[in-house]
Amino acid sequence: MLFAIQNKRIFNLTILNNHIIDYPTPVNINYLWSFGSLAGFCLAIQIITGILVSMHYTPHVVFAFNSVEHICRDVESGWIFRYLHANGASLFFVVVYIHIARALYFKSYRNLILWFSGIAIFGLMMATAFFRVCISLRANEFLRCYCNYKSI
Ligand code: HEM
Repeated sequence: MLFAIQNKRIFNLTILNNHIIDYPTPVNINYLWSFGSLAGFCLAIQIITGILVSMHYTPHVVFAFNSVEHICRDVESGWIFRYLHANGASLFFVVVYIHIARALYFKSYRNLILWFSGIAIFGLMMATAFFRVCISLRANEFLRCYCNYKSI
């Protein structure tokens, strides 16, 4: 199959071949350079699942809890979108931490404009995570938000 694709004999999979097998990349990079695209993939997942979950969420002190129960129990595939969104947020941070560690280890930060645009993106990510905790109506999370706010 691989041989067939590489030699373009059986299928006309030129596009697949050009992007997966013969994709031109610098010789000095390794698999750690995949984490930028993975971060983009995580962002797309968060946006799509976030929009789907918010369609059935009620941001109200009385109805919020029940609306989340409703998402998990009644909405078609709602539970999977909720957990993809909740766990996807943590995964997104893990992926971005590896991405930053790669940039530090291989001295990619020497490209200053690129590095500071990354810092700006990371600031936006932290702000999003902070506001997510603040909109929560769970007592412990609300307290966490209050303490964070006080520490700033
Ligand atoms: C939503 C978050 C982010 C996305 C989607 C993203 C995406 C990407 C992509 C696709 C690349 C090119 C492929 C690669 O080298 O991995 C890249 C490169 C880079 N990113 Fe990010 N990035 C994000 C966050 C950050 C953050 C927070 C920083 C640092 C504070 C950062 C710093 C860099 C640097 C320095 C490079 C150049 C690496 C090199 O070519 O040596 N990025 N990013």
